[in-house]
Amino acid sequence: MFASRFAKRSTALARGFASSARAERKVAVLGAGGGIGQPMSLLLKQDPLVTSLALYDVRGAPGVAADISHVNTKSEVKGYGADDIASALKGAELVIIPAGVPRKPGMTRDDLFNTNASIVRTLAEACAEHCPKAMIGIISNPVNSTVPIFAEVYKKKGVFDPKRLFGVTTLDVVRSSRFLAEIKGLDPKDVKVTVVGGHSGVTIVPLLSQTPQGKDVKGEEYKALVHRIQFGGDEVVKAKDGAGSATLSMGFAGARFANSLLRAMNGESGVVEPTFVESPLYASEGVEWFASNVELGPDGVKNIHPVGALSVEEEELIKACLPDLKKNISKGVSFVNSA
Ligand code: NAD
Ligand code: LMR
Repeated sequence: MFASRFAKRSTALARGFASSARAERKVAVLGAGGGIGQPMSLLLKQDPLVTSLALYDVRGAPGVAADISHVNTKSEVKGYGADDIASALKGAELVIIPAGVPRKPGMTRDDLFNTNASIVRTLAEACAEHCPKAMIGIISNPVNSTVPIFAEVYKKKGVFDPKRLFGVTTLDVVRSSRFLAEIKGLDPKDVKVTVVGGHSGVTIVPLLSQTPQGKDVKGEEYKALVHRIQFGGDEVVKAKDGAGSATLSMGFAGARFANSLLRAMNGESGVVEPTFVESPLYASEGVEWFASNVELGPDGVKNIHPVGALSVEEEELIKACLPDLKKNISKGVSFVNSA
């Protein structure tokens, strides 16, 4: 389904850009040897908008690259090991980052902070040096903190552009669509749910009242659905029983996000994805980063949509989200600035 969607879009784009060769788009994946990195890289190899794929990891990337490079699509694939990040990033226009450790049962995403904060800071320093203008999509958890960490490193280096930095929250959107469709007996492709806030527990706020198929879900069924969306990650962590967290669905979601961004970078208009960005929506309440629907454009963020009309329940969910989100963001900011 994904591949045929890509194919349709590719045909549409080919028509739209008939007179010139389509833009060359080098995409780098940092953490490409991992549970998310591998399937996401495979899906990116199937995306006709990716012309060159640079797979970097501190372990295993050359092997993954050799394997994926045999897939007979047009893009070039190269693998880069620990000491070769400069070559991986040189000329990259989009960098997707799933590097870092995943959760085990009983852990929160914030429990990953100590390890992943340093990994993301190191990778931000490398990106600031070798591809400061690239679009960056951060998958590494805790997203609510790692994205501000990345931003603070860029600010220190004088290269921060808030339009080009994104926390990837697409998996929450994918899950919401799937779970609501399951309840309603519908095809998920027809079910779109906006998810705002952040990416962990109560900071994940699905706006079901804005979805035609979701607005009549009430009472216990509503509570259970919201809980499942907010804690869908735990479901996978528990089922994997110590072997990590969501990798395959995240690979799918990450590749979808990358495809949306590439379409927008190539000039397609009206591309909207919920994503965690520096945002004015709740800045007056001290929450500088917030996920909402964002229209993407050639230079990244084009227009941050307001959250829109909320139900009473959703007002409550936002109220619960903001204090946690604020804490997670300032933890990331202090990590860089008090070091
Ligand atoms: P994994 O352990 O399978 O893979 C992580 C990879 O990162 C490994 O190959 C490791 O070698 C690599 N790595 C570690 N340090 C690195 C560095 N400095 N530079 C480059 N690569 C480095 O883990 P995973 O299951 O792929 O998960 C990765 C991260 O994504 C975790 O933090 C997880 O919590 C997060 N995640 C986020 C979402 C989301 O919705 N945003 C969804 C699922 C998982
Ligand atoms: C998810 O939502 O699946 C990821 O953030 C991984 C996790 O730790 O749950």
